[in-house]
Amino acid sequence: MRKTNIFAALMLAAMTSLGASAQHQFAVQANKPGVEIQPTMYGIFFEDINFGADGGLYAEMVENRSFEFPQRLMGWNTFGNVTVSDVKPAFDRNPHYVTLEASGAREKQTGLENRGFFGMGLKKDMKYDFTVYARLHLLNGKQTKIRVELVNSNNNVIAKQSITITNNKWQKYTTTLTSPQTDAKGLMRVYLESGESVDLDHISLFPQDNWNGLRADLVQDLSDLHPGVFRFPGGCIVEGTDLETRYEWKNSVGAPENRPLNENRWNYTFPHRLYPNYYQTYGLGFYEYFLLSEKIGADPLPILSVGLSCQYQNSDNDKNAHVAVDQLQSYIDDALDLIEFANGPVTSKWGKLRADMGHPAPFNLKQIGIGNEQWGPLYPERLQKFMEQIHAKYPKIKICGSSGPSADGKDFDYGWEQMRKLGVDMVDEHYYKSPDWFRSNAGRYDNYDRKGPKVFAGEYAAHAKHDPNSWEAALSEAAFMTGLERNADVVYQATYAPLFAHVEGWQWRPDLIWFDNLTSVRSANYYVQQLYGLNKGTHVLSLTENGKTVKGENGLYATACFDKHTKSYIVKIANTSNEEKEITVTFNGLKKLKAGKVTVLHADDIQAENKIDHKNAVVPVTSDVQANGNVLNVKMKANSFVVYRF
Ligand code: AHR
Repeated sequence: MRKTNIFAALMLAAMTSLGASAQHQFAVQANKPGVEIQPTMYGIFFEDINFGADGGLYAEMVENRSFEFPQRLMGWNTFGNVTVSDVKPAFDRNPHYVTLEASGAREKQTGLENRGFFGMGLKKDMKYDFTVYARLHLLNGKQTKIRVELVNSNNNVIAKQSITITNNKWQKYTTTLTSPQTDAKGLMRVYLESGESVDLDHISLFPQDNWNGLRADLVQDLSDLHPGVFRFPGGCIVEGTDLETRYEWKNSVGAPENRPLNENRWNYTFPHRLYPNYYQTYGLGFYEYFLLSEKIGADPLPILSVGLSCQYQNSDNDKNAHVAVDQLQSYIDDALDLIEFANGPVTSKWGKLRADMGHPAPFNLKQIGIGNEQWGPLYPERLQKFMEQIHAKYPKIKICGSSGPSADGKDFDYGWEQMRKLGVDMVDEHYYKSPDWFRSNAGRYDNYDRKGPKVFAGEYAAHAKHDPNSWEAALSEAAFMTGLERNADVVYQATYAPLFAHVEGWQWRPDLIWFDNLTSVRSANYYVQQLYGLNKGTHVLSLTENGKTVKGENGLYATACFDKHTKSYIVKIANTSNEEKEITVTFNGLKKLKAGKVTVLHADDIQAENKIDHKNAVVPVTSDVQANGNVLNVKMKANSFVVYRF
């Protein structure tokens, strides 16, 4: 016995002196499924930031299509005789339109040009649906013709169509143009071709590769994440810089042509990333959101205003910045009515609107969040009023409260204490921290109170100093998320934020998915989320090394779970160290593991980043794997994340 110990010590010394890594022994208790993992885990957070909605997921290519931006012609170049009016408009909530009148001599053209959002992305052979609301300007007018053209970045007309207008009442006209070439920076022109003056409104262009008005490629990106929950519409956008500009969901439903414009706070929030042309048309509104949630199989989680405008930008003492507690009823009604819009019978007011919009079946909304990043006593006293009425009318709807913008500290503790007192179902936590913080906090939830509200990690992302979407940031998130999985009895859902960014129009980074007008790129962080989403499991399994959970010692993080639907055993390991690791994973309670798959996410350079013109710097690679009986031998590269599935 003594001899063996000396031999082992000598071997260890020899290995260390040769620089070989020590062997790690992980034990998975495979025959004892532990706490349940919520199906809502690993979701998505959507906010119209970084041109995520208008100019992004919402496939409309025309900027300021309704001439409602405060500078009515922003986004348009006009030539000849073009004026803006609002007399007898087509849409009462979007009353402005343009009048095109002849400019004199035939050669002097009248028309207008729109360059979309950072140019219009045109794809070869793609069909584009043009729509306009038009009427003859003169009551006794007979007929006029307009011409719509797609123009490439060399100023060549590449497609055109004419439309004849004979009605002096507003009427919708459509035509389709096919682009013969691909051009990232195209534009569209509309001319008064011949005849009398004409009024035009809601000038719109959609590519046919859209899904319910949303960019098909970006919808696919979302669907491929297999998200469990879908938070919408933010974020700070929920609150508004002032109460008037908060997100009002009722303005985002009904005919898109008549959804009133709102400002977008990301237009001006960061002076060094100013986008004065950034507004919210609500073309992607709450109906489209519920439809999309249903399509991608994620539970919707709407977040609504609690009657406090952004607390960062307003003083808590400013009475105009918040609604008095006894004046909240219309805000509470907004929450109640949204639940009715999602779930109510078609005979109810809001359920009927849902049906009229095309979805008589309920959307099966189960939860709602009230308030985003709120802090201090103003919040709980308001939230309580919402809770009383929501519980009374919809006792099954779960309510999510906020713990403010920080991961810890006085306001965070106060927030949690208040949320416990109120008895919310879930508390929304936000943390944008360094990769190092993520690696050091994989045990964050190990000692959380098991009896209180559950956690919704509603906004989080590792913010690296350089290369925001670097592999280092993503790997740190992968490591941290082992702690989310291990604590599935307290962490019920988690959403990385923000979701989308236009490469030419961002205000905030890192982001999960970057795009231009033709294509998108999935970040390394995306693939981490996707691997968790695809390998969620239904029950946590105990995974230990020397009887302890694996949460950072030697740079290793690991977790295991069981999926009762596919009867699979899943092990996730992050090696955040700079050395290769040899690990044996023993599945106690099992005799033999069947053949499985391993997916590896890795880059030699931890600063590697997927970019729009270089999409594959960090991508998952899957191969077959065979265990030896119930023992899996793992050789893990430095800085890698692996998922085994048997
Ligand atoms: O995700 C970007 C912003 O970060 C959100 O709008 C806000 O809630 C948070 O501060």
